[in-house]
Amino acid sequence: MHLIVDSLTGNVRRFAQAVAQAAGGLTMQGVQEARPQEPYLLLTYTFGQGQVPASTQAFLRRHRSGLCGVVSSGSYHWGANFARAGALIAADYQVPLVAQINKSGTAADREQVLTWLRAAAAPLPQPQRTPTWTPGLN
Ligand SMILES: Cc1cc2nc3c(=O)[nH]c(=O)nc-3n(C[C@H](O)[C@H](O)[C@H](O)COP(=O)(O)O)c2cc1C
Repeated sequence: MHLIVDSLTGNVRRFAQAVAQAAGGLTMQGVQEARPQEPYLLLTYTFGQGQVPASTQAFLRRHRSGLCGVVSSGSYHWGANFARAGALIAADYQVPLVAQINKSGTAADREQVLTWLRAAAAPLPQPQRTPTWTPGLN
């Protein structure tokens, strides 16, 4: 899983760097240069009045197919619009809202995202093999 980041003043980038390091060195790219070929977690911020930054919107229009989840940053100062960009993206693209963080987040936020990343990377459980009953052979 890649981390793809949109960050204006550095909060999201700092959070993503800490997560990437804690996860054992995930690759991280900015929305401007990223050309994702693999599934990715998007980390972005909230702008305007609870809006998704134009740069994130432009990226998603081109690269929606690999999007697996979203983390959004904001500031508690914005009340009901706190980190709303993540909720908008999750609803528009039908992906999990992994976390909404204040500024560059806390240790608990990092743990929340790491837990999601571990689950996303885990192989799916194998379907249970039930013995088939064949008429006449049992
Ligand atoms: C003009 C402007 C508008 C903002 N609007 C919101 C908002 O509606 N909701 C929110 O939670 N945070 C809002 N923020 C706060 C940023 O989302 C927050 O500081 C975020 O951590 C920035 O991430 P970055 O440092 O990676 O760019 C706004 C910040 C600016 C400068």
